[in-house]
Amino acid sequence: MGMIPQEVIDNLLDRLDIVEIISGYIQIKKSGRNFKACCPFHNEKTPSFVVSPDKQIYHCFGCAAGGNVISFVMKYENMEFPEAVKLLADGAGISLPETGRGSSPSLTGPLYEINQTAADFYHAILMSEEGRVALEYLKARGLDDKTLKTFMVGYAPNGWENFKTFCVKKKIPLEFARKAGLTIPSEKGKGDYDRFRNRIIFPIFSERGRVLGFGGRVLDNSLPKYINSPETPIYSKSSVLYGLNFSRQAIRDEKYVIITEGYLDVISSFKHGITNVVATSGTALTESQVVILKKYADTAVMVFDSDQAGEAASLRGLDTLLQNGMKVKIATLPEGEDPDSFVQKNGRKKFEKVIDEAKGLFDYKLDLLIKKKGSGEIGYITEEMLPTISKVNNAVVQSDYLRKLAERLGVDEISLRREMSKVKTGYSYRYVAPAEPSKTEHGEKSIEFYLLGLSISDKERYERIRDELGLDSFLNMNIRKAIGIIDDFYAAGEKKINPGKLLSRLRGDKAVCDIIVQALAKMDITSDLEKALSDCIARVRKDNRNAQLKGLNDRLKEAEKARDDEKITALLKEMSRLHKEKVI
Ligand code: GTP
Ligand code: MN
Repeated sequence: MGMIPQEVIDNLLDRLDIVEIISGYIQIKKSGRNFKACCPFHNEKTPSFVVSPDKQIYHCFGCAAGGNVISFVMKYENMEFPEAVKLLADGAGISLPETGRGSSPSLTGPLYEINQTAADFYHAILMSEEGRVALEYLKARGLDDKTLKTFMVGYAPNGWENFKTFCVKKKIPLEFARKAGLTIPSEKGKGDYDRFRNRIIFPIFSERGRVLGFGGRVLDNSLPKYINSPETPIYSKSSVLYGLNFSRQAIRDEKYVIITEGYLDVISSFKHGITNVVATSGTALTESQVVILKKYADTAVMVFDSDQAGEAASLRGLDTLLQNGMKVKIATLPEGEDPDSFVQKNGRKKFEKVIDEAKGLFDYKLDLLIKKKGSGEIGYITEEMLPTISKVNNAVVQSDYLRKLAERLGVDEISLRREMSKVKTGYSYRYVAPAEPSKTEHGEKSIEFYLLGLSISDKERYERIRDELGLDSFLNMNIRKAIGIIDDFYAAGEKKINPGKLLSRLRGDKAVCDIIVQALAKMDITSDLEKALSDCIARVRKDNRNAQLKGLNDRLKEAEKARDDEKITALLKEMSRLHKEKVI
């Protein structure tokens, strides 16, 4: 990783406002001096995520995530430090110095680059004479140039080495092409060949629009219909939602997301002006996809065609949504249609009507089961319905569903509730233990946190701690390390420490960063810092004295065993002096 000079980072942090940056990602609300939000890093209903404009840090009291604006972007965008710095610098219009070539480069940068190059390469071919068959195919499917350009759709022509040769010509190391999954090493060791041949290419984008990988579709009915990029350091199929980079603003505005299966479902919907759409790429919705969606909306409308409606695989993703506190609705298309074919045939209005008529998961599933089995199959139906109901993240709604279920099946509500109590409650919050076990509030750990927070809060407080306690009294090594850096700051003449900057000094050292953020969070909930300081100092002194007394006492016992009268007298004298010493 090329090292970015500290002054550059400090300069960047001076120009950025953490509140502004974070509010670009999630909705935050002013609350006193700070801002609050539901934490984007774990599932929660009541906000425990706090952003402090004064300190330029964020902290979640629920999952203990915390840091400065750079670590927020790293975590949110799943980026390495230099990438996050670059993203922020670009956004602020600050140019970063080129990092030295000698330093060992990060792999992800070149992978994003070569993917972008490949997307451009394939798109240009689609739009050229060489891509005519593919372009004709796509036009016949109702797509126009503008849409194809937006989604950077491309064409990989037939042949084994088109992209590879292009890389050689452009002096792009073949190692990157292989790592990005664009080429495959041949078994006979004759070098690499292209993965995508005679296929339409759909670049798969990150939330921020960077090319992570590709899907490649045949132009006819041959199989396999799609070949996708393999998992790479930047592409993980289960945590990507196709189209989200284009749709995320619309999802926020509309307050719900339409979930489809295929690339073409997203692209055709867009062409017809429905823009709050994503696709799962043909798999059941995963937990990490749901966590991503939850940042944008809390309602999801799944669009099923009537063949898959009711299939176990299609229903599987739904409980995941519920479990993560999303409301789920299901829209059903006529037999044989998918969103792509439906919207192309019937247009926007009719598609919107289908979405409007989406049923809630409870009604959908119950109707389906009754249709399949008949309402007489009480045992079967309750066994299917109760686990789903148990995942509903709201006791009132849950209760209402139970009442409705009893009514529909004509069974006694009380016995249904008794059955319900047997269902292992899947509901809902995965409890996330705080990173720091809150020993006793007065435990030595907690005091060291306070002292750390107090040291950052003010130079004079720090000096009092240093002079009255000495820096050796800190037992926690991470806190010692943090104190060392704080000392450097003040020694360099800083009057006030910007915690965001302090954290940037620590870069990779997550343990120390976490401790600092937690210490600062403690400061937020302490009303009288001066009193806290005096109390902590007194407490540490008392603890120190007690430890000393205990040591003396041990030695006294030994001296008594050895009948060393001289030593006994000396130890007793020392102990009495300590007892008399005023500690508070
Ligand atoms: P069309 O059939 O051309 O309308 O394409 P589609 O994108 O709508 O595909 P379909 O509805 O059949 O499948 C939905 C999604 O599942 C696709 O967009 C792909 O992401 C994925 N998929 C479909 N077939 C395959 C396959 O053979 N292999 C892999 N890896 N993925 C597939
Ligand atoms: Mn389709």
